[in-house]
Amino acid sequence: MPATTFTLHPLAPTLGAEIRGLDLSRPLSPATAAALAGALDRYLVLAFRDQTLSDADLVRVSGHFGPLDKAPITEHGRLHAPGFEEVYVISNVTENGRPIGALGAGESVWHADMTYLEAPPYASSLYALEVPAEGGDTGFLSMFAAYDALPEELKRRVDGLSIKHDSTTNSGGYLRQGFAPPVDLASSPGTVHPLVIAHPASGRKALLLGRRPHAHIPGLPVAESEALLDAIWAAAVRPELAWHHRWRVGDLVMWDNRWTMHRRDPFPGDQRRRMHRTQIAIPAEARRMEAA
Ligand code: SIN
Repeated sequence: MPATTFTLHPLAPTLGAEIRGLDLSRPLSPATAAALAGALDRYLVLAFRDQTLSDADLVRVSGHFGPLDKAPITEHGRLHAPGFEEVYVISNVTENGRPIGALGAGESVWHADMTYLEAPPYASSLYALEVPAEGGDTGFLSMFAAYDALPEELKRRVDGLSIKHDSTTNSGGYLRQGFAPPVDLASSPGTVHPLVIAHPASGRKALLLGRRPHAHIPGLPVAESEALLDAIWAAAVRPELAWHHRWRVGDLVMWDNRWTMHRRDPFPGDQRRRMHRTQIAIPAEARRMEAA
């Protein structure tokens, strides 16, 4: 029998809702999947507790929201769950002397996933298989709230600008396999997107920052771009605007990757953390990030 009903419990003023009453290991009805997609659009982050999901379940549930992208290239190459190229493994665990996943145990800085691509994922889902006793929480930030938090003068400065999203380095600060460290930010590899994007239905504006390290505003000298980006980050990316998820084994958290950023706290390296993530591709009709 498909799972059909759920209740929704908002988590924070700017984003986040916990979804209760669904067992995601069972098939989802099209109506429930559509209601969840609507909830994701409205609340930007959805948390489901106490799930027991195989990789096939994770792929099936994520697939209700759109086609899945392959796991990204990490510091150790393309690390995916055995048999599932679309299931990215984020872990500090090593097996037979080899890392099974990316990002280690350090901080993962504020970022949106894979914005160095022309068409970054529309959403991501992260499922907790093993979690540390302390640390490793994941924070989320609404990029609508971040834009709203800018002083008016800064809003006027950023409107119409673009930003290059660095493709060399991941959110853990590790160089992706096959890339050289960026030397000149004006010419280093990456993809240019509008700095301010607008929700296609509401028109509400959001910042599209990607991540701070190695970003560059095309057309500005590097020093000027760095100063402007520092000012934007200081004004917009503020802890009081964020909500943090404390993980338990069996949690699945989905986020809308266009209108949010996330970061992970460090955790003790001698404790195991093992997460499986899918990347849900942006719908074909919206394959470019549209400027506001
Ligand atoms: C991610 O950056 O997608 C993963 C965050 C986490 O491991 O909490």
